[in-house]
Amino acid sequence: MTDARPIRVETHGRVGLITLHRPQQLNALNDALMDALGAALQAFDADPGIGAIVITGSDKAFAAGADIDAMQDWSYMDVYQSDFITRNWETIRTIRKPVIAAVAGYAMGGGCELALACDVIVAAESARFALPEIKLAMLPGAGGTQRLPRAVGKAKAMDMCLSARMLDAQEADRYGLVSRVVPDAELLERTLALATQIASFSLPALMAIKESVNRAWESSLTEGILFERRALHARFASADAHEGMHAFLDKRKPAFEHR
Ligand code: CAA
Repeated sequence: MTDARPIRVETHGRVGLITLHRPQQLNALNDALMDALGAALQAFDADPGIGAIVITGSDKAFAAGADIDAMQDWSYMDVYQSDFITRNWETIRTIRKPVIAAVAGYAMGGGCELALACDVIVAAESARFALPEIKLAMLPGAGGTQRLPRAVGKAKAMDMCLSARMLDAQEADRYGLVSRVVPDAELLERTLALATQIASFSLPALMAIKESVNRAWESSLTEGILFERRALHARFASADAHEGMHAFLDKRKPAFEHR
């Protein structure tokens, strides 16, 4: 019997793992999948036992984009009134814990945009990134025209968006689209190890760092620095920060309570 659930959810210690699962459609992102992904992300975000979240796909595709079959006959009013993309894809923007994409195979269109919406991207050697919406006379509408230039600069982003150019993992690494490249056979193991390391740190400190780095995209340097400084000052109200500094000086491992 085939498993019709569009995602699978597991926990590995303090790491929540979400696997996109529409193998026949190369994980094309339809509403059922994006609703389930949003719900799983929110559940992990609310779970005090989870410190980091990993999203992955299959060996062949992280995700081949928004579901073209579902979209083909939609009208403007359909998408405007139902607030397509905003209503469920953007749940990821509200997640406060670190989210890591583990990408093998195709990350195309909305799949590339989903990866770009994550905080860290670990790419397998087989990963391929493209925003090919121009081939459909569409446009990258899940953040691609905004996040890609912030990640790789205008020249590369325009090239990718206007020509549908596909990047391999090494190019994506060189251009700053991904955080690291690893062999395919080690993708999940290495990403879970990274997520486990991140999740072992103090959760409120991780959340403050995520918020501060994201602020760099959204504000002037002066405003961003002020935000960062306030976040640093707030660390002095955290039991974990005092524990971290005392443990360092005592030459022992810190015991974080995520407070
Ligand atoms: N939506 C729906 N179905 C898709 C799909 C998608 N985005 N991508 C692949 N599929 C389906 C194919 O239709 C095919 O189904 P059938 O077996 O029923 O024919 C199956 O998945 C396997 O795909 P292919 O036979 O095409 O596999 P391939 O290995 O030859 O090619 C690929 C792989 C290059 C990724 C190719 O599938 C492809 O180009 N897919 C579309 C990519 C794309 O255009 N993405 C952008 C979507 S629009 C978007 O995302 C808008 C936005 O910003 C929100």
